[in-house]
Amino acid sequence: MAKTAKNKNLRNANKAKMDEFYTQFHDIEKEMSAYLEFNPKTFNGKTILLPCDDPEWSNFTKFFAQNFERFGLKKLISTSYAVESKNYKSNYQPSLFEVNDPQYDEYKTRKNGKIFTLTRDKSGDGKIDVNDLEWTYLKGDGDFRSEEIKKLRDEADIIITNPPFSLFREFVAWIIEAEKKFVVIGNMNAITYRDIFSLIKQNKLWTGVRFNQRLNGKNMTFFVPDDYELSGTEVEMSADGKKMISVAGTGWYTNLDHGRRHEPLPLMTKQDNIKFSKHKEIKGKEYQKYENFDAIDVPFTDAIPSDYKGAMGVPISFLNKYNPEQFEIIGLGISNSGIEVGVQPYKPEHKKYRKEIQKRGAVDGDLYMMINGIVEVPYARVLIKHKK
Ligand SMILES: C[S@@+](CC[C@H](N)C(=O)[O-])C[C@H]1O[C@@H](n2cnc3c(N)ncnc32)[C@H](O)[C@@H]1O
Repeated sequence: MAKTAKNKNLRNANKAKMDEFYTQFHDIEKEMSAYLEFNPKTFNGKTILLPCDDPEWSNFTKFFAQNFERFGLKKLISTSYAVESKNYKSNYQPSLFEVNDPQYDEYKTRKNGKIFTLTRDKSGDGKIDVNDLEWTYLKGDGDFRSEEIKKLRDEADIIITNPPFSLFREFVAWIIEAEKKFVVIGNMNAITYRDIFSLIKQNKLWTGVRFNQRLNGKNMTFFVPDDYELSGTEVEMSADGKKMISVAGTGWYTNLDHGRRHEPLPLMTKQDNIKFSKHKEIKGKEYQKYENFDAIDVPFTDAIPSDYKGAMGVPISFLNKYNPEQFEIIGLGISNSGIEVGVQPYKPEHKKYRKEIQKRGAVDGDLYMMINGIVEVPYARVLIKHKK
């Protein structure tokens, strides 16, 4: 699909607060396997909270319930958000599983959230799995910001989910406030949010294994309700007829360690880049210097020169290759975040040129270059330097 159409889909999704994007089982499995590969005891003895996850829909609940014993979990808690509190108004029908349960309540099924817990072999079949989930209605609607869910957060060791897109920032702040481990899905643009970037810089949050990555030619793909009005070629049907959409720039954010984070990025020297780079913007050229910060602009992560001692501005997608032993993050070269790390405001004549001649926004704190007398502002850059 054309980029503009795809972006329009996502803008629309955001505008309408379309939060009902459900994660596929194999995406969860692949990501969690990477943490386990790095540390087989990642989940051992832990209480895991899935706070935006109705088991009837959520593959997170299914995945962790199925693997309860293999991972050595202590407790699994999964809570869901009340149907009537959701932005999305569906033609909701409670499941037979719920209706046939003695605690079924016609009012609560719409107004209250639900909690599912797994700790023991309730069914007595000799194993703990998805059939042993025990459930009840929550007192409230299951909003993660409520006191009721906050208590569960405080009890948990690790919080894992795909949170509502429209509340991503608030959701991460909610986890950080309680100093919990987490693995959550979000969009790459979140890197440019000041609060999220500040966590990245402090090494309190990093990208997971899959991040802004097309696999088999596709971005991460989610199930959506059938009546979601999303169009374009990135919408498809699953083998069993469910509507799905690929979302560009999506990936995992976490503070659990994994192997990719410790792999050094293989790089060429500055001279070799200029001689041999596959990028026409680099080959046979000099790296440009910013006008308002002492750093060179590196437009591609694989063109970071291995021998450059000073600061470098790199695309935000670099963060998925970031190895904290190899690089130090100085800051983000946009607006107030830029000012904070010493990016100078526009020179008056450049600001005037940008606004009047180029008819573009000129935000102080954004990195810019002067190329043949023309103001050039690259897309958001992370300022980094080599550690050694
Ligand atoms: C992106 S979906 C993902 C669902 C599930 N975690 C998954 O990956 O399949 C986010 C879910 O959070 C729910 N939600 C929205 N606002 C919420 C809130 N304030 N508290 C808890 N859940 C909320 C939405 O209704 C939606 O079902």
